[in-house]
Amino acid sequence: MSFDIKNYLDRRKEIVDRALREYLPPDEAETKLHQSIVYSIHPGGKRLRPVLCLAASELICGSHKNALPAACAIEMIHTYSIIHDDLPSMDDDDTRRGKPANHRVFGEAVATLAGDALLTDAFGLMTEKLLEEDVSPGLILRVISVVSKAAGSKGMVLGQAFDLEMDEGEHLLVNEISNTYLMKTAKMIEASVLSGAILAGAGEGELSRLKSYSEKIGIAFQIKDDILDVMGNDDTAQESRERTGAKKHTYVSVMGIQKSKAKVSELTSQAIAELENFPENPNPLREIAIWLREREE
Ligand code: IPE
Ligand code: IPE
Ligand code: MG
Ligand code: MG
Repeated sequence: MSFDIKNYLDRRKEIVDRALREYLPPDEAETKLHQSIVYSIHPGGKRLRPVLCLAASELICGSHKNALPAACAIEMIHTYSIIHDDLPSMDDDDTRRGKPANHRVFGEAVATLAGDALLTDAFGLMTEKLLEEDVSPGLILRVISVVSKAAGSKGMVLGQAFDLEMDEGEHLLVNEISNTYLMKTAKMIEASVLSGAILAGAGEGELSRLKSYSEKIGIAFQIKDDILDVMGNDDTAQESRERTGAKKHTYVSVMGIQKSKAKVSELTSQAIAELENFPENPNPLREIAIWLREREE
């Protein structure tokens, strides 16, 4: 029987949603700060990063139990990044996931603080829950190091800074755009896969192949996002076109749709090739790479 990727993703997403509701209970949000946090965490989006974290753990050890706290922490960091990304000083977006952006509901100051809190609490929660699961302190420290590097000034935040400069640049090289995508998007995707694999006890060779897999699907994911922004008919694509206009440089604006689609396919094939030494069949990471290439939203 063929692997039902939709069903796999839905079931893993449910596991993540349930854990996030336990860690950040929606009905216990009494202060404006907590209401703002809960507003962006629930119901959330695709939960791609935590699902990748669980899938990587399953690939290595057959279980995702220890990976779940790391998966949720990474989703909290992702949520902080999009709250801040939408602020007037950044992308100045009024909507996110079909509802008003966090700062449009709670104001810029509270939205900024909600992001700050999510980032900080992510590390606290991950440490506490992994210790409760009796994960060795050495593995916990390694995961904290991987996630903090991916999120910080040499990872996602640097990518966001490059992204701001891309608004101003006249003649952008495709390499500069790819490097921005590597930093702003692929680094957190890489941390998701690696932390799941580390907590499952992966060896160095496995981690190095998974790192390469993640970088490739991460850049492909952001190029696909650009393609959907240009081609999509849904409200999000429409909003995206209106707000960015002709000003914003993207992979698609520089390379055109056909070359961008070809690049997504090429990166996906290269990512899948990195999985060759993992004999599992079906391999959820392979199926996720294909699903990301084909996705329509
Ligand atoms: C949006 O990420 C920001 C990017 C890095 C492109 P997602 O497309 O994963 O967002 P959600 O969480 O599913 O809404
Ligand atoms: C968001 O990138 C990347 C991060 C938040 C790290 P974009 O600004 O391109 O994504 P959208 O279109 O707002 O989701
Ligand atoms: Mg942005
Ligand atoms: Mg944005």
